[in-house]
Amino acid sequence: MVDTLPIAVTVNGRRRTLEVAVHHTLLDVLRDQLGLTGTKECCVVGECGACTVLVDGSAVNSCLVLAVEADGAEVTTVEGLATDGRLSPLQNAFLEKGAAQCGFCIPGQLMAAQALLAQNPHPTLTDVHEGLAGNLCRCAGYQQITEAVMAAAEAAVR
Ligand code: FES
Repeated sequence: MVDTLPIAVTVNGRRRTLEVAVHHTLLDVLRDQLGLTGTKECCVVGECGACTVLVDGSAVNSCLVLAVEADGAEVTTVEGLATDGRLSPLQNAFLEKGAAQCGFCIPGQLMAAQALLAQNPHPTLTDVHEGLAGNLCRCAGYQQITEAVMAAAEAAVR
């Protein structure tokens, strides 16, 4: 029986070759093998969005993706948003709007918002609500999160 398989993934712009357990999720590998703990583990059944990362530009729940399925993909985690230690415009908007309360859901919210703005740079409020509908916030900080995404979109067109 095969217990592990080799995969090659590009994570935050860096190519990685890894031996992964066939039953491990992308979330397991990001956190436990690569030490990228910005991606959060919460429900592990695809309900909360805390584990959201980008796979080939699309937001996915990394708890629902087997690591072997990510072979050959480009993965971006929250650690990949900043450049040379400087926060991205989206991260800055979250900071300025006070969008983080306990902060646990914020990496997933950021990655969902990043995917939304890449696909739709001029979202309406409804677009933002729909784009982030899979990302739950137990502090119920949705108002500030929505404002931050709208502010980031507006700043990009200025
Ligand atoms: Fe993946 Fe909740 S931990 S959706």
